[in-house]
Order: sequence, then C-alpha cells, then structure tokens
Amino acid sequence: MGDQVAGRADQVRSLFDAKAATWQAKYAPDGHLAGRLAQFAEALAAHVPAGGRVLDVGCGTGDLAQAADSADLRVTACDISAEMLGHAAAADPRSAIAWVHLDPLWLTLPFESATFDAVIAASVLEYVGWPGTVLGECARVLRPGGIVLCTVPDLRHPVRWLEWLAQAVAKLPMVRAVGGRWPRLDGYLAYLRLSRQRRCARWWCAAAARAGLLTGPAVVRPAGPAPLRLLTFRRPGGMGAGAGA
Ligand SMILES: C[S@@+](CC[C@H](N)C(=O)[O-])C[C@H]1O[C@@H](n2cnc3c(N)ncnc32)[C@H](O)[C@@H]1O
Repeated sequence: MGDQVAGRADQVRSLFDAKAATWQAKYAPDGHLAGRLAQFAEALAAHVPAGGRVLDVGCGTGDLAQAADSADLRVTACDISAEMLGHAAAADPRSAIAWVHLDPLWLTLPFESATFDAVIAASVLEYVGWPGTVLGECARVLRPGGIVLCTVPDLRHPVRWLEWLAQAVAKLPMVRAVGGRWPRLDGYLAYLRLSRQRRCARWWCAAAARAGLLTGPAVVRPAGPAPLRLLTFRRPGGMGAGAGA
C-alpha cells in the first residue's frame, strides 16, 4: 500500500480525532443529525429481528450504536478514531456495546463471516479510499438476508454543489497558505479534501452489486433534511425482510 494512501487514511483518523469532543452535539434536538437516530431506528426495526446483531462501522461517538443498544439489539461498533471511541464508551459505560478500534488501513474487518443481521455505515463510505473493499467486508460479515444501511452525500443537494466549488477553490495555493493560519478554515479544507468519494447513488448501487449485495430503485431515499442519501442493500439468501420492502 502506497505512502499516499497511508497518509490519507491517517489524515482521516486525525480529522475525526479532532472532531470527537464536539461530535455528540450534532445529535442534540437542534443538531443537524437529530433526525438520523429516528431514521436508523425505524430501518433497524423494520429489518432486524428482536435481539438481532448489529455492526456499526465508523460509529463515531456511538450515537446510533447506543440507540440500537437501547432497542435491545446486540451491538458491536468500530472506528479508526480512538478519540471517537473514547467518547462513545464514556457516554454510557453500562451499555453492552463492544467497541472495537480499527487500523486506519484495514482491509478486513475483525469479525467472523455471517455474524450480523445488519451493518450500519453512516457517513463513512465517502472517507474511505477503497469503498468496494469496505462494502465487500460488510457483505461478508452479514448473515444471508441481512442488510447494510448507509448514508452517502446527496450530490443533488445544493450544499454539495457549493462544496464542489469550494473544493476547487481550496486547491489554490493562496487558500492553502491562509488555511494553515485559521484552524476552523483548516478543518474545513481537510474535510473537503478527505470526504472524497462524491459518487451518485447509481455508482454506490453498482459498487454494492459488485460486493455481492442486492439493491433496487426502491432502496434509495433522502436521509431527512441533511444533504445525504440513505441506501439499503441486502445480502442474498436467508429470511431477510428484503431491502426493497
Ligand atoms: C462523519 S463521521 C460519522 C460518525 C457516525 N457514523 C455518525 O453517523 O454519527 C465518520 C466516522 O467514520 C470513521 N471512519 C472513517 N474512515 C473509516 C474507516 N475506513 N473505517 C472505519 N471508520 C472510519 C471516522 O473516524 C468517523 O468517526
């Protein structure tokens, strides 16, 4: 694996280490991720049997994992950011969630095949350098009939058009030089650089299909008011409720 790939993976880790202390505030009632908890809870309730097993990949501060744990699901949550995991574990030390730290360059998830009823990957895939491999691992650890629930940037949203413009401006040497002197601007520039898998829903569906997951037009929908799309994929076989249901 090249130095550039390793460097980027480490930059993603450090971007989110730096965001860990404030991430949970996004889930406050007026936070911009407030609707995400209900949306994932609804999807999990529709697809995962009582007491089922859920894996949250890129769990951040564990807000979705905690919600699934509160719904009596058995939850494992993993992330490359030790800071994020530290905040997650501290939020509810009595929860039964298994927190797992991943190497930023992981290619294989440290879980047995066919273990989980659902895999969550909320706002993670756009940061990985090898999304096909990550989707393949999600498929592997799912039991037949299990589902993947993920959000990805909604390229049709005006916020994403502005980000596309900002990405072009951010490459100017003058902007880079100024960014180093303003921590908030520097953080935003790092986000623009590292949130790089800006793909349409059709691309994600094709990548999921190559990873052995089923999809269909009915499974793509807006993820609430945030500029994201919620995609649902299903591993073939088993008694799953069906991603298109
Ligand atoms: C935008 S945050 C989303 C956090 C959480 N899923 C949520 O919805 O609140 C992205 C998270 O993915 C993690 N991440 C980025 N790349 C990853 C990778 N290759 N494997 C696992 N986690 C990763 C980051 O450390 C960060 O915690």
